[in-house]
Amino acid sequence: MGPEASLDHDVYLRTAVSVERDGWANFDYVKMPDYRWGIFLEPAEPGGKINFGEHKGEPAWQEVPGEHRANLRRIIVTQGDTEPASVEQQRHLGQTCPSLYDLRNLFQVNVEEGRHLWAMVYLLHRYFGRDGREEADALLTRRSGDGDNPRILGAFNERTPDWLSFFMFTHFTDRDGKFQLCALAESGFAPLARTTRFMLTEEAHHMYVGESGVSRVIQRTCQVMSELGTDEPDAIRAAGAIDLETLQRYVNFHYSVTIDLFGGDQSSNAATFYTSGLKGRFGETRRADDHVLKDRAYPVLEVVEGRVVEHEAPMLNALNEVLRDDYIRDSVRGVGRWNKVIETAGGAFRLKLPHKGFNRRIGGLAGAPISPDGRVIPDEEWKANASRWLPTAADRAFVASLMGRVVEPGKFANWIAPPAAGINGQPPGFEYVRFN
Ligand SMILES: [Fe+2]
Ligand SMILES: [Fe+2]
Repeated sequence: MGPEASLDHDVYLRTAVSVERDGWANFDYVKMPDYRWGIFLEPAEPGGKINFGEHKGEPAWQEVPGEHRANLRRIIVTQGDTEPASVEQQRHLGQTCPSLYDLRNLFQVNVEEGRHLWAMVYLLHRYFGRDGREEADALLTRRSGDGDNPRILGAFNERTPDWLSFFMFTHFTDRDGKFQLCALAESGFAPLARTTRFMLTEEAHHMYVGESGVSRVIQRTCQVMSELGTDEPDAIRAAGAIDLETLQRYVNFHYSVTIDLFGGDQSSNAATFYTSGLKGRFGETRRADDHVLKDRAYPVLEVVEGRVVEHEAPMLNALNEVLRDDYIRDSVRGVGRWNKVIETAGGAFRLKLPHKGFNRRIGGLAGAPISPDGRVIPDEEWKANASRWLPTAADRAFVASLMGRVVEPGKFANWIAPPAAGINGQPPGFEYVRFN
């Protein structure tokens, strides 16, 4: 279920051979079927404790705590299910790569997501006995988009249609992965914490691929705008670049779909996972509070009489919202870096993340007609503007029309600028993939 038609390629991949400083980034040509799927755990912390919830201060679990077994298994299965899903969503993208450099990055992300699946399968086999093995088998047989046996979360059953979507996905949705992994890296179950900590070192590259990919698209668009002396979308498109308005619609779509992945804004499961010491908050041990959170409140949003209003919910129940807000703060910074690219090129346009309530399907704001600037609007206004706010069929067809296949070393598709630097000190024009 890896990338299509790629089994025989030699790919300049980073392979981890140990968690040590000199072990996790070995670069060489590898055929993807030969990529080494090791099991990597950060070194155990001697005397490590559970840092939150009702077991706070007790020694971290080295084996599965019997009373929390079902919840722990569910957390591991849910995380594990997302990892290969993105590979399955992206299988066909190699056929339309904008360069060898980008093709290599796609393959790198794909093999690492495969290994992340393997890391979760390992935990299920090693620590859960027979029911763990059954869950692991099910993980390995589900397929993104399969009518009978789909991946668990809806967003992971949509095909990633083109490279712009791939960059948006790795920027926004792999970042969701980062925050989920950070919460699991705090787990009182030590093998899960140690495994996810190592996964995070790889996850950083996935987000880099997304952020720098979108930056390069913006850079190319700005170059075309200044060459033509116009910011008219039709003129930009006629020149084979992607207008910033279209990019904004892709941002709106990927951001809103991704923040849904954090789940309902009030969730008794989230409270249970925290209180039982299985899943912490982002940066749990760096936070200055009691790490038990009883009697504390957190603001969540709802629509009351045609307006978005905040109300206080018990913090334990609002932990999905807490994690979502941490994610949002991180995402805002990424968009700021994209705007710097436009600013440096002298453009006036600024990309913006839409309001948290825009285009939501999950939680208290699900289905509410909320504009990108956060106003609850009449349904007619939503209908009249949806095509300005979200990618249309015509946008997607236009982006698809740009997707050729560029595989000559050092050549890049017309719609994207070359990167400032290559991988592992190699130049951008390095032969990152050999086709044999
Ligand atoms: Fe991953
Ligand atoms: Fe990832």
